[in-house]
Amino acid sequence: MSWTAKKLVDQLITVVEPSRVKIGASDLEYYGKDWSSGATPNPSAIVFPKSINEIQGLVGLANKINFPLVPSGGRTGLSGGAVASEREVVVSFDRMNKILKFDKVDNLVTCQPGVITGDLKKFAESEGLFYPVDFASAGASQLGGNVATNAGGINVLRYGMTRDWVEGMKVITGRGELLDLNRGLKKNATGFDFRHLFIGSEGTLGFIVELTLELISPPEEPTVMLLGLQKIENTVKTLAVFKEKLSLTAFEFFSGTAMQKVIKSNELSDPFGRIYPFYALVEFENNNKDQLDVASVLFEKCIKSGYVVEGVVSQNQSQAKSLWKFREGITESIADYNPFKSDVSCRISKIPTFLQELEKISSVFSRQFEVVLFGHLGDGNIHINLLQPFQMDSQEFREECKKISKLIFESVQSLGGSISAEHGIGLIKKPYLSYSRDEAELNYMRGVKRLFDPENIMNPGKLVDI
Ligand code: MLT
Ligand code: ZN
Repeated sequence: MSWTAKKLVDQLITVVEPSRVKIGASDLEYYGKDWSSGATPNPSAIVFPKSINEIQGLVGLANKINFPLVPSGGRTGLSGGAVASEREVVVSFDRMNKILKFDKVDNLVTCQPGVITGDLKKFAESEGLFYPVDFASAGASQLGGNVATNAGGINVLRYGMTRDWVEGMKVITGRGELLDLNRGLKKNATGFDFRHLFIGSEGTLGFIVELTLELISPPEEPTVMLLGLQKIENTVKTLAVFKEKLSLTAFEFFSGTAMQKVIKSNELSDPFGRIYPFYALVEFENNNKDQLDVASVLFEKCIKSGYVVEGVVSQNQSQAKSLWKFREGITESIADYNPFKSDVSCRISKIPTFLQELEKISSVFSRQFEVVLFGHLGDGNIHINLLQPFQMDSQEFREECKKISKLIFESVQSLGGSISAEHGIGLIKKPYLSYSRDEAELNYMRGVKRLFDPENIMNPGKLVDI
């Protein structure tokens, strides 16, 4: 251990007991990165606080002797928001993973930030209730990270983003002060709502140390339709047909390449016996049997209009889950290709124009790279994944991808969209933030960061610099 590392550890163990400070190479590697690729993990230590007091102690210490802190949840992020590559101290929430309190009258559950999303969903179920935020990484992501990135996922169309479920939170600001924000109130018209500043702030303003989230009555068991389509523009036309007459819980789309990868990596059988250029997955609650009849009429309309070629519909929950596997398995099935990810959004009305432009851009780069498209079309959110050819060097691949992403971001900007719909900005998207936020707005963001974290100890280098 170098002298400075030893000095740092000596300081850290004045706040947390020595067994909860790790500096072994495998811990540094494991806790120093998230699911994004590109940056090399290089933290100086990992600490595992167990209480709000300990976190406050760590922030106080960081301000006093000046070292940077990186919050670490399930590290399932895709923009490098939880990467520690500059000798930071990583603060892991793995030991703050308890559900603290549930209030049946309010339907509010209070959790430590390290609770795994899937565990909260199971808890809600055990109370006959439902936590609506859901995504493929729910088995690993932690609530604190979800809130810090305002995570979206597959149910946004019906239930909104993580933001919509946060009724209260405690934070330790970068100055080391404890704030108790909103306290579970439905109505609270008392000025600035700092809760919403911390949601999506990616750990740059302070640590989220406790959360109060709302649970709701569970939906009726959903019905899922998987549709095969010939043309990308028909995905949006199909969405318009279904949206007009049905209350949808999800409308996802994915390309034929995505389908091929999922089928291959999970050894699934092809639902249609042939690969379509595009697929749409439609989910709706069948709360009175009429909904299924309505869906059948809409399906027929799509067939007659030539938007959809064929489709299958789930007859029970096990079939519904099996159809979701084709969509939810995509990220994992392409992980070995070191994908370069763009996660963009536009208003739904602008999506047809964006898809046209994307087709033009892809006609140039698709000769070079395999492209896997998918996303939450019902939310106007498209995920563009470029796969690294096996013979191409990683550095060269990333440089080429950056050129393509610039073209994509220019198109998004011209349509008033966002260069990061739900994956956040982190390290990876930071150079492109000005495509979605103008300079005046960025200046206010920097001002907010300075206010909450004047010494720049909270996740420095991510989102905005001060
Ligand atoms: C998804 O929609 O599956 C997630 O955003 C993950 C991804 O984009 O890879
Ligand atoms: Zn997504």
